[in-house]
Amino acid sequence: MAKTLIAFFSRADENYFGGAMRYVKTGNTEIVVNDMKEMIDADTFKIEMKDPYSPVYMTCIDEAKKDLRAKARPELVSMPASIDEYDTVVLAYPNYWGTMPMAVFTFLENFDFSGKTILPLCTNEGSGMGGSERDIKKTCPGAVVKSGLAVTGSEAANAAGRVKKWLAANGLA
Ligand SMILES: Cc1cc2nc3c(=O)[nH]c(=O)nc-3n(C[C@H](O)[C@H](O)[C@H](O)COP(=O)(O)O)c2cc1C
Repeated sequence: MAKTLIAFFSRADENYFGGAMRYVKTGNTEIVVNDMKEMIDADTFKIEMKDPYSPVYMTCIDEAKKDLRAKARPELVSMPASIDEYDTVVLAYPNYWGTMPMAVFTFLENFDFSGKTILPLCTNEGSGMGGSERDIKKTCPGAVVKSGLAVTGSEAANAAGRVKKWLAANGLA
């Protein structure tokens, strides 16, 4: 039977919301993922860095920029043993400097996605999907990469309607 995996990266702690800094317990992308879990029958995997970025927003910004410039592939806390059983992967992540966090590249490069369908969802504060769809296509040759959904991070809690429509348009939900 066709199975779906929701793989996601999300950072809690201090973040920037329309002009103000706030500490949060659940990151924007994870809020959307929690909604998605109610909409579709899917397994979930959280992409977590062994050495996570700082809880302090401005420090995190610098660390992530350094990793982007170095094309770093941060080590993850864990990795699924296999993704063979999934034919569809919903990949959810924040926009970091115009693309995905480098840890998402670590995840993608660990597997062969050929023949699988990837649905990208990117939370952001204005840059939309950035170059992430192009980067996913480059990193996952042979995968079918569908048109992504961009969600404004500070509106993550109100995005359920759009998310459900997008999933349904792609044969899920
Ligand atoms: C390191 C870093 C880089 C970011 N770069 C961008 C960016 O280039 N464009 C953008 O629109 N938002 C950017 N943001 C904002 C995040 O994409 C946005 O807050 C997102 O919803 C955070 O998701 P999360 O709470 O699940 O981690 C950045 C945030 C961080 C922490």
